[in-house]
Amino acid sequence: MESSAKILGIETSCDETAGAVVENGTAILSSVVASQLATHGKYGGVVPELASREHLRAIVPVVRHALEQSRTHLQDLAAIAVTEGPGLVGSLLVGITYAKSLCFASNLPLIAINHIEGHIHAVVLEAGPKLEYPALALIASGGHTHLFEVREGFSYRLLGKTRDDAAGEAYDKVAKLLGFGYPGGPIIDQLAPHGDPHGVRFTLAHMKGNTLDFSFSGLKTAVLRWVQQHDLTAEIESRRRSQGASVEELLALTPQPTLDLLASFQHTVIEELLRRVAISIEEIGARSLIISGGVASNAGLRAAARSARLSCPVYFPTPALSTDNAAMIAAAAFPKLRAGNFADFSLRAQANLALA
Ligand code: KG4
Ligand code: ZN
Repeated sequence: MESSAKILGIETSCDETAGAVVENGTAILSSVVASQLATHGKYGGVVPELASREHLRAIVPVVRHALEQSRTHLQDLAAIAVTEGPGLVGSLLVGITYAKSLCFASNLPLIAINHIEGHIHAVVLEAGPKLEYPALALIASGGHTHLFEVREGFSYRLLGKTRDDAAGEAYDKVAKLLGFGYPGGPIIDQLAPHGDPHGVRFTLAHMKGNTLDFSFSGLKTAVLRWVQQHDLTAEIESRRRSQGASVEELLALTPQPTLDLLASFQHTVIEELLRRVAISIEEIGARSLIISGGVASNAGLRAAARSARLSCPVYFPTPALSTDNAAMIAAAAFPKLRAGNFADFSLRAQANLALA
């Protein structure tokens, strides 16, 4: 048996600067995430130029902190893993450049990780041997809504993806439209249980053909139409003026019909996701289901997936590993370390990198 392998993971694909040390792909020795929420919140979304600048500011202390917390020196590491894409190119570049310079200075191998594969490994890291293959992975975040078949040894086949907005993006856009803060997912998740999920009926356009693709832009437009038909100007304004308000304060500023709208929106998103999940499980004969990405922290989705009588068990990451972090990047790098699958210094940021 080889001695333990510690990998430093670095993640800067969007608006979190993250560093983590993971041992043998399973034990998180440290996981540090510096969120840029305070910077982007007031704009209602991520501003790419500001994101790169914040990553530049945070990357050195975040990585130092991750090493210190895990009591690890660079020379104790087996490799350094970094997110190669997909993501914002200026943000990815900060992590990649820093990872390269650390590898250059310490003579460590560099491992390139696809961010989506990282989200899958957030579950592999925790559920490990319980997972049976082939598995179905639903990755739902602010940037992606993808269904993959995951085979033994971590090879992937794309089964379906969103044709327009990602599920998290739909949450963020609906929240912004209604005067709630950013990101919208956690806010709507907390308010939805106070509304009637059947209060507003959304009829979604059927996509042509036998497809496992998703579409959320129609739902977003349906919400917009509902808002235009009901005069919500005053309540939206009052919420806009109360950015950073607690859930209780937001509840007080949100009349019942709007709570019903939020509950119905969330119900429809979950139904759309789980309908295609159920079909995919049968299609590939999946023996486990992995749900990961920011939207996987949604309490409604977790409850619905657990009670959906799917034909295989479902695994979610703990909430801290659902949203962007570097532990999942270090964990995804472990099989690549074993396989000697290293990157070199020509590694470049790939904004649209596909997993399969
Ligand atoms: O994975 P992530 O941190 O970053 C990306 O790779 O995009 O996901 C962030 C997204 C945001 O759109 C956010 O609104 C959504 O995940 N999100 C949620 C919840 N928590 C975060 N969506 C629904 N319910 C939640 N509880
Ligand atoms: Zn992500």
